[in-house]
Amino acid sequence: MKAKVLVIGANGQLGTVLVKELQHHHGLDNVVATDIKKAHNFKETFEVLDATNRIGLTEVVTKYGITQIYHLAAILSAKGEENPLGTWDLNMRMLFNVLEVARIHELDKVFFPSSIAVFGEDAPWVNTPNNAFLNPATVYGMSKAAGEQWAQYYFIRYGLDVRSLRYPGVIGYQSLPGGGTTDYAVDIFHKAVLEEEFVCFLNEDTTLPMIFMDDAIRATMELMEAPKENIKIRTAYNLAGSSFSPEDIVAEIRNYYPEFKVKYEPDFRQDIAARWPKSINDVEASLDWGWKPEYDLERIVRTMVQKLKEQYIPHE
Ligand code: SER
Repeated sequence: MKAKVLVIGANGQLGTVLVKELQHHHGLDNVVATDIKKAHNFKETFEVLDATNRIGLTEVVTKYGITQIYHLAAILSAKGEENPLGTWDLNMRMLFNVLEVARIHELDKVFFPSSIAVFGEDAPWVNTPNNAFLNPATVYGMSKAAGEQWAQYYFIRYGLDVRSLRYPGVIGYQSLPGGGTTDYAVDIFHKAVLEEEFVCFLNEDTTLPMIFMDDAIRATMELMEAPKENIKIRTAYNLAGSSFSPEDIVAEIRNYYPEFKVKYEPDFRQDIAARWPKSINDVEASLDWGWKPEYDLERIVRTMVQKLKEQYIPHE
């Protein structure tokens, strides 16, 4: 049977790119993109959907005969701190709706993204293992850590095939992130290519795990296409791309823009980043479903500069 895929949060940083890849993989007519607002970049099937509304979600699932859900909507780490209880309520309510609708309608698969934000001070900071202790210090991280447990619960209790990845900070030229602690690593490229000064909200030496968009999308597709019996971890898989700090990115960008100016003005997001791992051990992802990243810092910077130049200065 053909998969009918529902994407929740299709207008977001990952959704924008993942919808296209899913269309490519499953066929244009088999992907239903949804978000709380209509976006103009979707030609394909799009529905306005607020995933906190279970009836609305049920209607879309029934209308299109959905068999898989990619639930990408969430309030991220930095934005989430503005309204802790509201963030918890929204992130958890959406997840519960997705899990319940998937259970009741016996969907084949669910994708639920987790994050490096599940880790806190008590996890090893370097080469953090998959089963490290989780004591997140943000509401976003708490909602992801709890969400992982719920994902596993639905698998054990109901046999629902929920799969999850702990994404590092995602860097891509196709879309902009919103409300995260790793957002600087996208914004910095836009400023560099526009030849403007960049004000960085993290300290220059704050190393964080990052991943290039193409790697993040490929990891998602590979995880979701892997045979069910290969998925041994039902909370979430660690996923590594490449780890670096603002000063590492700046040094690499200066190979293209030697005059690039950066000012460091760390704010509350520095405290969030300071409790996250510096690098991730993703050996389980590599053993269970063959994960291998392709982009290191040099290739990320080269690709970002090239693609953003094409966007901003199309005739050069
Ligand atoms: N990139 C996310 C954030 O910064 C982490 O999942 O919130």
